[in-house]
Amino acid sequence: MDISLATPLLGALTPGTFMQRHWQRKPLLVRQALPGATPVVDRAQLFELAARDDVESRLITHERGRWALRHGPFRRRALPGLNRSGWTLLVQGVDLHLDAAHQLLSRFRFVPDARLDDLMLSYASDGGGVGPHVDSYDVFLLQLQGRRRWRIGRLANPALEPGLPLKIVSNFVPEQECLLEPGDMLYLPPRWAHEGVAQGECITASIGFRAPGRDEIGREVLQRMLDAAEAPEKDPLYRDPLQAATKNPGRIPLALNSFAASSVARFAADPQWLACALGEVLSDPKAGVRFDPGSPLSGHRGIVLDRRTRMMYDDRHVFVNGESYRASGRDATLMRSLADRRVLHASGVGSLSTEAHELLNQWAAAGWLHAALP
Ligand code: SIN
Ligand code: CO
Repeated sequence: MDISLATPLLGALTPGTFMQRHWQRKPLLVRQALPGATPVVDRAQLFELAARDDVESRLITHERGRWALRHGPFRRRALPGLNRSGWTLLVQGVDLHLDAAHQLLSRFRFVPDARLDDLMLSYASDGGGVGPHVDSYDVFLLQLQGRRRWRIGRLANPALEPGLPLKIVSNFVPEQECLLEPGDMLYLPPRWAHEGVAQGECITASIGFRAPGRDEIGREVLQRMLDAAEAPEKDPLYRDPLQAATKNPGRIPLALNSFAASSVARFAADPQWLACALGEVLSDPKAGVRFDPGSPLSGHRGIVLDRRTRMMYDDRHVFVNGESYRASGRDATLMRSLADRRVLHASGVGSLSTEAHELLNQWAAAGWLHAALP
């Protein structure tokens, strides 16, 4: 993707300008972001997805002033009738299940993969919506079918309606309102409250992002580092030749505390361990993702990453689905290109070292990548 080219997707802004002016800062309404956008799925296909037990779905109804939330899977008969108003079905992670959804999500890869989360699709009957709420993450709301009226407003201190099964804010004061038609898109940074109400039945796509909490990422990275750290061949023991005789045998010696502190700091201070653990954490497949084993690569065909594969890199490593590999030289260049483009042409595959080629074969057998169509 050329990030210096203006694109209709971002209202004729370049991705560079969008990131400077809007990302994490202020909303953007884009008329005809995807003109003539073919819906990723139609209503019937979305209902079929919601019936699968490997797909995460939720049903929200709002009847006679009462909100209700149920979690899927949902047989078709379990969903309200199409003539009933005020209900909505949300299907999460559609990009993991459908190539078309994965391709739609890929249009937003001017944001690092480490921040991109998933594509959610919602079907709403007339008047349906999830109520006024605030999301923790940035979101692009892309209207795929039908019309939806959005009301949005900044909300620094959201107060939640008590006793409800979903997070609805009670102090929402809309500042702007817009009606989205198919192909229109609304970008919202975190902390902007919003409420979308379907006008007639509609399908909306949410391009969602993820951002780790400071505590959360620290815990996950430390845990990963500990899991990966092999017991050293020689582990120097604590020594205390200066320990004086004590009247307080119950007290932990200060020197032992410092010994432990320096050991903990050693783990956290090694930039390579940290980089490795971070890449593994960030490239971990989503919970519940299963790959279908594939066959090793044959001949000189290009390759394409499976839509479920997460692949990232840093200056020294390549990370694939929670595993890390050291890479340098030409192999590193080609692997990085594979991570960025998610395809590697036959000439690139042919230029890899034998070891790297063997790795690709293992990934192909695991179903993490496939031979590209000739
Ligand atoms: C929806 O599609 O109904 C909800 C999306 C959102 O508000 O984030
Ligand atoms: Co929202």
